[in-house]
Amino acid sequence: MEERIVDACSNEEENNFELSIRPQSLKEYVGQKEITENLSVFIKAAKIRNEPLDHVLLYGPPGLGKTTLSHIIANELGTNIKTASGPSIEKSGDLAAILSTLEPGDVLFIDEIHRMPKYIEEILYPAMEDFVIDLVLNNDGKSRTIKIDLPPFTLVGATTRAGDISSPLRDRFGIVSKLNYYSDDELLQIVKRTSKVLGMPITDEAGMLIATRCRKTPRIANRLFKRVRDFALVNNLEEIDASLTEESLQKLKVDESGLDAIDIEYLTSLIKKFNGGPVGVETIATSIGEEVSTIEDVVEPFLLQEGFIKRTSRGRMATEKSYEHLKIAHNSSLF
Ligand SMILES: Nc1ncnc2c1ncn2[C@@H]1O[C@H](COP(=O)(O)OP(=O)(O)OP(=O)(O)O)[C@@H](O)[C@H]1O
Ligand SMILES: [Mg+2]
Repeated sequence: MEERIVDACSNEEENNFELSIRPQSLKEYVGQKEITENLSVFIKAAKIRNEPLDHVLLYGPPGLGKTTLSHIIANELGTNIKTASGPSIEKSGDLAAILSTLEPGDVLFIDEIHRMPKYIEEILYPAMEDFVIDLVLNNDGKSRTIKIDLPPFTLVGATTRAGDISSPLRDRFGIVSKLNYYSDDELLQIVKRTSKVLGMPITDEAGMLIATRCRKTPRIANRLFKRVRDFALVNNLEEIDASLTEESLQKLKVDESGLDAIDIEYLTSLIKKFNGGPVGVETIATSIGEEVSTIEDVVEPFLLQEGFIKRTSRGRMATEKSYEHLKIAHNSSLF
């Protein structure tokens, strides 16, 4: 599948861009009020007690601000942040190496923490509870265990799949927060903020067009803004307005509900070729020439969440909302 502008996951070249527009403090972080208000209290309390912040688990769909928030936590604590990702910690030595660089109060951020190997997870338990690790050293066939003391630190774990985290690991986090999708107003604020940081003004009306088409996801809002900004530059505009935004989004094939060409192809196929279903996912995938895994992981979640399709025991079905969206008459109610 070619790259989708509405993909909530980040791609390599996007990293630097994201870094440059990432908010640095809780005050700048838009939305997720409940989480940020609580964190702000816990961070203040930890500083007063001169103890590390409790371990924090952040979970929620891609692009909602988990990595951003982890960096903000370290900034607000006034400590360093060391980062690692679950799948990259393969050996106990890898984990020990990261842990040995920590200074008292530091944040250790482990992204995709659900993909950490089980035996690494077990080494992490005493590290989280008592700030010690037991390392097993193998020497000439003889193995011995050494205990290493760690400075008190805060583990911040992030995951898009909370269900894949074992309960012993989850239970060791004192603070567990679920990030939610953003409201249109919050997304407008994020777009306005990005516009300011990048020095390219945008009208509220234009910002709202992006806010309502970005699948409730800041990463997609920023990406759409970036593309629309390109159109503005080429058109010699000093401010991004609604008509340019509308035109750009049409060229990018992102419609008024944030659906892109693949979503539309999926729904059109479901309705026109399979009479709205129910039909198996393999059959739809074949009919539009995509992998089943692509359909299940990156196309269907948003369509399900927005109520364009339903999953039934007999297969996928288009909902009334899909027929309306595609402006196709739905006559099943006649029978
Ligand atoms: N609350 C927010 N306020 C302002 N900008 C935000 C907010 N949340 C996210 N962003 C922006 O969205 C982009 C993506 O956020 P981030 O990388 O933190 O998402 P993530 O949840 O870690 O995604 P993934 O699951 O893919 O790792 C960042 O560049 C950041 O600038
Ligand atoms: Mg992230």
